Amino acid sequence: MQQILIIGGAGYIGSHMAKQLANNGYRVTILDNLSTGHKQLAQYGKLVVGDLADTNLLENLFSNNTFSGVMHFAASSLVGESMVEPAKYYRNNVANTLNLLDVMVRHGVKNFIFSSTAATFGEPEYTPIDERHPQNPINPYGASKLMVERILQDYASAYGLNSVCLRYFNACGADPAGELGECHEPETHLIPLVLQAASGRRECIKVFGRDYATDDGTCVRDYIHVEDLCSAHGLALQQLLSQHIQGAQAYNLGNGLGFSVQQIIDAAIKVVAEQGYQLKVEEAERRAGDPAVLVADATRAKTELGWQPKFDSIDTIIRHAWQWELKQASPRNR
Ligand code: UFG
Repeated sequence: MQQILIIGGAGYIGSHMAKQLANNGYRVTILDNLSTGHKQLAQYGKLVVGDLADTNLLENLFSNNTFSGVMHFAASSLVGESMVEPAKYYRNNVANTLNLLDVMVRHGVKNFIFSSTAATFGEPEYTPIDERHPQNPINPYGASKLMVERILQDYASAYGLNSVCLRYFNACGADPAGELGECHEPETHLIPLVLQAASGRRECIKVFGRDYATDDGTCVRDYIHVEDLCSAHGLALQQLLSQHIQGAQAYNLGNGLGFSVQQIIDAAIKVVAEQGYQLKVEEAERRAGDPAVLVADATRAKTELGWQPKFDSIDTIIRHAWQWELKQASPRNR
């Protein structure tokens, strides 16, 4: 049985990944410092609590295990915070990732999958955004992820470390079986915030600006179900393990469908109304740094990885996220 190390496997996307891999016959080890992750989400692997800054721990972990591949989901990922605390982003997202890559090289572990982001592109020059789009990040979060993308190119040519960077657009949704989902503190993402406004965990949802150059004036994003993100990782892993992918590759991951903030709110209102819930919407100023439209062209992932998103209906995405939100909001979990 092949053993995969998931860094950040107690977090939102990493926990879904651990479940998919475990269900597909891999043995999963999770390394997570639990700074934003949750022990109860790390159900599908052996959890090691520790930090990538701890090089002794990494050395021991790699000495005592034989990993076929490593997936790295652990990062600081708040754009706004990165503007005021860049050191945290460069240390955690770049320096700590280097610790991980170096221990992999020392132990001859050659297969690496890295969570990158649409934020590496900066203000889009055109949409949908394909892999040829220039990468000019406009915040330290995007810059830190791009630095690792560049490092991976050099580690491929110098050390033979094969890697796949997957650039997520707007990750959302939850485990269809209802076991796993998003629990960020603070929560900044649109869909969980809308649903928290419906469940009563939040007073209202604020629309950040209605004067963008889009059909209804609100920002358009490419919402991709966490299960679909994970299936792309699974395919990339298979190709790395079978050596069909070599060098440092990168793929954009999105549905290629754009939904506006208002469309998301409208879709959520419908879903929650089925159980008699409502939500209050308020207007707010634009949030700094939000481009009007961010939509992915994921053709390359489809043709080269054979990836096909299964949960691209916004209704399904919201239903899965709502099922999870109701569980979080239930008095038992408060
Ligand atoms: N929004 C609101 N109200 C809210 C929260 C969000 O109107 O309370 C709007 C935002 O202004 C934006 C859209 O909803 O237009 C989506 O916002 P999110 O915060 O959910 O997601 P972002 O598109 O800002 O962020 C995503 C990823 C980041 C990544 C970024 C790239 O989550 O990791 O795309 O630009 F950096």
